[in-house]
Amino acid sequence: MEDKLKEIQTDYLNKIKSAKSLRDLDEIFIGLFGKNGQIDELSHQFKSLPKEELRTVGPLFNQIKQELEKAINDKRLTINELIYKSLENEKFTMQPRGLQAKRKGHMHPLASFEEQTAKIFNKLGFVQIDAPLIDTDYNNFEVLNIPENHPARDLWDTLYISDKLLLRTHTSNSQIRALKSSKPPIRLMNIGRCFRYENLDARHEHTFEQFELIYVDKKVSMANLQYLSEYFFKATLGKDIKVRLKPKYYPFVEPGVGVDALCIFCKGQGCKVCGGIGWLEIAGAGMIHPNVLKAGGIDPNEYSGIAWGFGPARMAMIKYGIEDIRLFNSGDLKLYESK
Ligand code: FA5
Repeated sequence: MEDKLKEIQTDYLNKIKSAKSLRDLDEIFIGLFGKNGQIDELSHQFKSLPKEELRTVGPLFNQIKQELEKAINDKRLTINELIYKSLENEKFTMQPRGLQAKRKGHMHPLASFEEQTAKIFNKLGFVQIDAPLIDTDYNNFEVLNIPENHPARDLWDTLYISDKLLLRTHTSNSQIRALKSSKPPIRLMNIGRCFRYENLDARHEHTFEQFELIYVDKKVSMANLQYLSEYFFKATLGKDIKVRLKPKYYPFVEPGVGVDALCIFCKGQGCKVCGGIGWLEIAGAGMIHPNVLKAGGIDPNEYSGIAWGFGPARMAMIKYGIEDIRLFNSGDLKLYESK
């Protein structure tokens, strides 16, 4: 057994030394540690060894095993380093051919719309903050005045990944972070992906972007919400855009509103894009609920705040005349041709 171990050691250290790629290393690893690999096979033979021999072979086995593992890992790092260096020095010499030569590149319409949106609010003093895509049930719901088992949770078709962890259903998980991280006046925004277990159609995706705005100061009111909404819609969608606010229930705002834009595809007549309603819902908004302000350490008697959650994809649909939200994530080049 001892001889066999030493033979494996020499043989495989040589193989590791001459490995040229990560794939070579993977094969070596499997040959050693995979099911029926050399090391795995040997370990099965321990049962039949006399105790005396086991006493010397056991430690040797462990030592060689660790040595081989380390040699593979070290070589992996060396190869990675080489790959990284070769990418760093890479020179792109590809010549455009045929169609490729004629096509001009541009940003994805959604990315460019979001960039434009961020710039508009940046000018008004809003600063971007981060919020995680995988978050706790607490930040996504509970602190937003939606306790466990509250029926309002049904408003969001949530993808849970464990008891207390979920894929965020809205950018409103940034609210508590915004409130806790700064003192009023607060003007913060968060843009990013959200996830829902949705029935997909022309205006519903399972993975979509939202854009959250939070504004807290003394004497902030619905008038600010109305003004900022109009300012934003006119700046992004043009002066002729028709917008309506309707009362809507969100547990973390009071009062709450839904913001709709007149469907440009049917001009309010009702079509498959707007689901026959004539209006496309593009945002939820309202005055931040006193309980949420309190949770963020802000005195609701002194300060008030407004929050919005926009759907940039729905707005980009209106801006660029895109009839189906699923086109954004599809890679279908039709999306670019129409722009
Ligand atoms: C919310 O997600 C609230 N967090 C919005 C909010 C923020 C309210 C702050 C109050 C204060 P709602 O589920 O209605 O609300 O979604 C907001 C917007 O996200 C919608 O108007 C729509 O534009 C977009 N949206 C929602 N679900 C989808 C979906 N499945 N696909 C594409 N866009 C969606």
